[in-house]
Amino acid sequence: LKGGSLEGKKVLVTAGPTQESIDPIRYITNHSSGRMGYAIAEAAQKRGAEVVLVSGPVDLAQPAGVDVIDAVSTEEMFTAVKSHMDADLGIFTAAVSDFTPISRMEGKMKKEKGQETVSIDLKKTPDILQHAGENSTNMYVVGFAAETDNVEQYAQDKLKRKNADCIVMNDVSDTSIGMNSADNEVVMLFREGEPVPFEKMDKRALAEQIIDTLVQRWLG
Ligand code: PMT
Repeated sequence: LKGGSLEGKKVLVTAGPTQESIDPIRYITNHSSGRMGYAIAEAAQKRGAEVVLVSGPVDLAQPAGVDVIDAVSTEEMFTAVKSHMDADLGIFTAAVSDFTPISRMEGKMKKEKGQETVSIDLKKTPDILQHAGENSTNMYVVGFAAETDNVEQYAQDKLKRKNADCIVMNDVSDTSIGMNSADNEVVMLFREGEPVPFEKMDKRALAEQIIDTLVQRWLG
């Protein structure tokens, strides 16, 4: 596919981890580097799209020509996504925390004398992908699925449950692909049509192929 295939389209991408505060100095997060999402945002921008990238805290340079919105917590990422529900294509690569502390402690959490264990109560975070799947009118919705076992079955479940048009699945039990690695190896599953597998490759090369495949399936 040639450049310009996303001309006139608005593409929303989420990337990176979220941080859920426990107290003023501690938080819950994961190993996502943001590389997969940034590569996807770049590939979409190169094809002429207007790209909004909602990014968790990462250590990556801002891609040229992309509108980056910083978000730290899931709640912040959700707010940013909700203000861009008019996007034509939404690609949700962020590794969003599924749970967040019920309340953030005002002061630093203290350990009592002799204390050997501690519990922190967590509550479910809003599901950003599912919200987009259920509430967008025009958006072609693409989620990612990071699994460590029963990869295909869980990814198929997510495709249905989150009302997505496509799920890109990766096996994050293999540390040479997936989170915080240069390469990834994925299979794209679609609500309609055959799955599309890709060989292991550099995330930037893969992002190009993911975008081209989406353009073909979505815009024909
Ligand atoms: O950032 P990198 O280091 O490059 O790594 C890339 C990646 C491994 C993070 C990426 O390829 C990937 O798999 N992203 C999805 C990670 C994830 O959280 O997967 P999940 O199976 O837990 O979630 C499924 C989908 O729901 C995802 O699209 C996720 O963005 C979305 N979700 C999940 C929970 C939530 N509260 N809101 C969401 O939107």
